[in-house]
Amino acid sequence: MNSKISDFVVPNRASEKGFMTFLDSQLSTYDSIPQVCPVSTFGCAIPSRQEVLARPQCAEYISSTLNRFLAALDVSDEILPGLVKQILEMAKQEIDDSWYEEATHNLLRNNASSSAQDMALEDRSYRILKQLSPYIVKGETLDYGCGDARVAKLINNFQGCVTLADVYQHPSINRTEMEFVMLASEGSVPLPSARFDNVLLCTVLHHAERPLETLNEAIRVAKPNGRILIIESVYGVDLNVGTETPQSPVATAFLGLSEEDQLAVNSFFDHLYNRCLYYSSEPTTKVNVPYNYKSPRDWQETIESMGLRIEAFVPLGIDQPLGPLFHVLYVAVKP
Ligand SMILES: C[S@@+](CC[C@H](N)C(=O)[O-])C[C@H]1O[C@@H](n2cnc3c(N)ncnc32)[C@H](O)[C@@H]1O
Repeated sequence: MNSKISDFVVPNRASEKGFMTFLDSQLSTYDSIPQVCPVSTFGCAIPSRQEVLARPQCAEYISSTLNRFLAALDVSDEILPGLVKQILEMAKQEIDDSWYEEATHNLLRNNASSSAQDMALEDRSYRILKQLSPYIVKGETLDYGCGDARVAKLINNFQGCVTLADVYQHPSINRTEMEFVMLASEGSVPLPSARFDNVLLCTVLHHAERPLETLNEAIRVAKPNGRILIIESVYGVDLNVGTETPQSPVATAFLGLSEEDQLAVNSFFDHLYNRCLYYSSEPTTKVNVPYNYKSPRDWQETIESMGLRIEAFVPLGIDQPLGPLFHVLYVAVKP
């Protein structure tokens, strides 16, 4: 019989032996529920965590990137290797996602510093501001899929007139002065056409149930000559992207993976960031993770086929320690 997930707390700074005993005791109370392998909207089969970690190249890449993820959360060198091992051990278990999400979240909460997490998320937002600001034009901006609005707040300070929109209202939005528009996960945005000078889709499209409809709505609400700024997590990254731009060692390691493995490691870290670090026990407020990735070239073709002109393409690389996926920025202009 299943016990309730809230019945347990992962031991604080558990010794490895204690952790394994704890894991065994938890697993024996759970039904084994193998993860269902989903297929993305773009037709890619997404491997389960167990399958991802069974691939030696993926396991090696995930382990070293997870070290960097935990170091960004100020996990001490002393407990870091044990924590990496514990998270990977839990990820390998054939149990349902909710268990893994809560257990990993508890491990992170108990072993990482919350102020370091806050600083790392703030650092991510400043980094995104720096990436976007050369391309943001004067006027009104819509942050479409704003999340906790950290990025929007900085852009609002930078030039004002930012409106927020998302399928879920993060509690921190109440502490901002910006207008928030609640969206349905499908269908049109309740905003007039041609209103915004800039529309941001910052790591949103791969989370949308119907990414092309979402992009279409972003285009509709942009003014003629308005800009749609898209940051996306991609796989199948053309090696030229890596050679034209200086890359960090982690990006070089990512570029060395096969296309299939790039997709697999993306799904691992997308889930870790959005469901374990940002954790919600309430199913309706969990971030949607349909793993709708494309290659940079595919996105380029899609964006152009929707009538936009691409003014700039910027490979950002693996630029966010807490969201270690390969990011690219498209600056697209509506005719
Ligand atoms: C990874 S978060 C990014 C949040 C924010 N843009 C940032 O970069 O900090 C993805 C966001 O996309 C939102 N989202 C998912 N599907 C959406 C949709 N169909 N329309 C608008 N937002 C959506 C999620 O609720 C979540 O807040």
